[in-house]
Amino acid sequence: MKIVSIINQKGGIGKTTTALNMAAGLGIKNKKVLLIDIDSQANLTRGIGIDNDYPNYDVYDLIISKNLDPKKLILKTTTKNVDVVPSSMGLAGVEVQLVRDNRTEELIFFPFIEKIKKEYDYIIFDCPPALGLMSKNALSISNSLIIPMQADYFSLEGLSQLLETISIVKKRYNRKLYIDGILLTKFNKRINFSKEIEKELNIFFKDKILKTRIPINIKLAESPSSGQSIFDYDKNCKGAKAYESFIEEFLQLKRGYSE
Ligand SMILES: Nc1ncnc2c1ncn2[C@@H]1O[C@H](COP(=O)(O)OP(=O)(O)OP(=O)(O)O)[C@@H](O)[C@H]1O
Ligand SMILES: [Mg+2]
Repeated sequence: MKIVSIINQKGGIGKTTTALNMAAGLGIKNKKVLLIDIDSQANLTRGIGIDNDYPNYDVYDLIISKNLDPKKLILKTTTKNVDVVPSSMGLAGVEVQLVRDNRTEELIFFPFIEKIKKEYDYIIFDCPPALGLMSKNALSISNSLIIPMQADYFSLEGLSQLLETISIVKKRYNRKLYIDGILLTKFNKRINFSKEIEKELNIFFKDKILKTRIPINIKLAESPSSGQSIFDYDKNCKGAKAYESFIEEFLQLKRGYSE
């Protein structure tokens, strides 16, 4: 069993796309996967085909009602071997509520994960574009991180802040947390600038930059509106091939497995 957070506080760089298609790709390989959407935008929830307009239990209830039956939270999806804990707009105020209730030092996902982890090979957190309490809690309970990044100048700017957050979480809550890899997303190899950034990143992260590049691919942008992963939407497109090779690469990484 391995818990992975998909994290980067920069918005719109492919976290959700990566979480969803990583889960789907692992599912195809007969791994049981639980996706946990901890972003109030709920892009992952809708992207995997859950209609969250109706009152339902979601990750907000997981945080607030400590003894909620996990069966009420976990939804089956039409994606093979993939379940999801959905999110909704209601999650937007939860961090304020946690501060007010003096729960900022609590590991809020821990009891839930303990109850359900035997059922899964992978648990994947789709983090919001912020380094607040939701991300901190995901990091605190994860074995490893995948950091999707766009190869542009502004992406480099947020990196030191992200690394600092990771290092604080490691010191205080989760000594064994490590980075599985940096995944370059929305990659355009025709733009020289990307190559320059890639070079800088290689100096910074050395062997952490994954070999797979996820290209800009319109099918990847289209598939969430059908509630399907890229493998169900169009398994032969460039985006599907790229995520397939990312999963192969991910599965070669041997560290971080626990009982
Ligand atoms: N490789 C790609 N090619 C084309 N479009 C992409 C690609 N990856 C993601 N997108 C699109 O870019 C937008 C942002 O992607 P996504 O939602 O995965 O990013 P995010 O980092 O999760 O965003 P947020 O920070 O808001 O949670 C979406 O519309 C998505 O469909
Ligand atoms: Mg997202």
